[in-house]
Amino acid sequence: MTQILHVGAGMIAHDQIVPSLFQMQRNGVVGEITVASQNGRSVQALKKAPVFERAFPGQMFRCLPEDASGPHPDLYKQAIAALPPGQIVIAAVPDQLHFDVVMTALRADQNVICVKPLVLRVAESMLIEEEARARGRVVAVEYHKRFDDRSQMARRRYKDGLFGNFKLGTACLMEKWYYRHSNFQNWCTTENSDAFTYIGCHYVDLVHFITGLLPTSVSVYGIIDKYPNGNEGYLWTDARVIWENGACLNVQNSLSFPDAAPGTNTQGITLYCGTESTGAWLEHSDQYRGLRYSYVRNPGGDGATQFAEPSPDYMQYVDLGGPGLVPVGYGYRSVEHLVKTCLNCQGSLDQRQAYLADLDSKGIVATPANSRYNELVTEAGRLSIENCGREVAITYGKNAGVAFRY
Ligand SMILES: NC(=O)c1ccc[n+]([C@@H]2O[C@H](COP(=O)([O-])OP(=O)(O)OC[C@H]3O[C@@H](n4cnc5c(N)ncnc54)[C@H](O)[C@@H]3O)[C@@H](O)[C@H]2O)c1
Repeated sequence: MTQILHVGAGMIAHDQIVPSLFQMQRNGVVGEITVASQNGRSVQALKKAPVFERAFPGQMFRCLPEDASGPHPDLYKQAIAALPPGQIVIAAVPDQLHFDVVMTALRADQNVICVKPLVLRVAESMLIEEEARARGRVVAVEYHKRFDDRSQMARRRYKDGLFGNFKLGTACLMEKWYYRHSNFQNWCTTENSDAFTYIGCHYVDLVHFITGLLPTSVSVYGIIDKYPNGNEGYLWTDARVIWENGACLNVQNSLSFPDAAPGTNTQGITLYCGTESTGAWLEHSDQYRGLRYSYVRNPGGDGATQFAEPSPDYMQYVDLGGPGLVPVGYGYRSVEHLVKTCLNCQGSLDQRQAYLADLDSKGIVATPANSRYNELVTEAGRLSIENCGREVAITYGKNAGVAFRY
């Protein structure tokens, strides 16, 4: 049965990917799961997560390293080298390390799932696409908002012409303040990433997913704050993305949502659209989904509050009679869909390459070839933020790249 090697043992591993893998293992869809991280401490902490014991009794991943030692920045390479061809490697490490993990896996003839953003430079995404195509292996980028049913609803209605044309939009995703105290302070720093690159990419991807439009220029203004450890990060960003039809999307991101506020973050998108004769409008509140709970005490855990607005839609555990609990939501559906996409890439090289071409053309799974606009926006955004928000234009095609507009 197909083995999974999950590289990284941080927040996204705990909150979404590893529990989804456990559920697929329970269902007999995947075989052994290994979690490899540069620090044994993070793998051991993940292993002891109370929710895993409760939801998946009797299941556990193999730990690399086996003890709490570290750092072992290259350990994942040995783990990849030890896999037979055609398994699945999941890259869930800091943004700036995705390229090395993805390429190492592809060169070892593995299918790859990578958390967003795939890579920070368009040239890197082209190398990844080339390598994946030559080997007939999947590279799937995990944009889980695509698997939120409301995104699919908006996409179908937009395609049916019910919204006319997108003209102006505004989106935000503010993570909680406590993120500043997490491992983020070691990597989400000015030289590597920023709030827009880290989390704004979700809404850029979603606007393309819904409308099919491509972004043509980007400007990002960032405000630098100090993390508790003294490192500096662009922890507040305001991005303006112009689209091929002249539409304009404003995206605001930060690590600022008060820890005392209900909900794990605040997020949502509004698109103002229309035809020549009438307006249209779409608004998704992606944080507040209609539930308000006031508990007798704070239930505990990072960012938990006594008054809460939990999202039933991203990732929850439900009791269906056991054993354990079952993860549900678009976080689970996304991982399941991408894993099955990898599992279905079978046959001769020609057959696998035809499968990849079909995957690219359908546009449901984000691949290097069909979501290159994300890398272009990321690269443009990084150039802009380092230059006080100067507008950076995007070029598509063989010479895809970014350059200052003026
Ligand atoms: N909403 C989302 O889609 C979402 C949410 C969170 C994170 N992410 C993405 O997931 C990635 C990881 O984020 P996170 O929140 O889990 O970060 P994190 O800082 O909590 O965890 C990062 C993990 O990577 C490990 N790591 C670092 N260098 C390594 C190496 N050389 N080899 C093996 N492991 C290494 C660290 O030890 C740590 O376990 C980032 O790219 C982030 O953008 C996506």
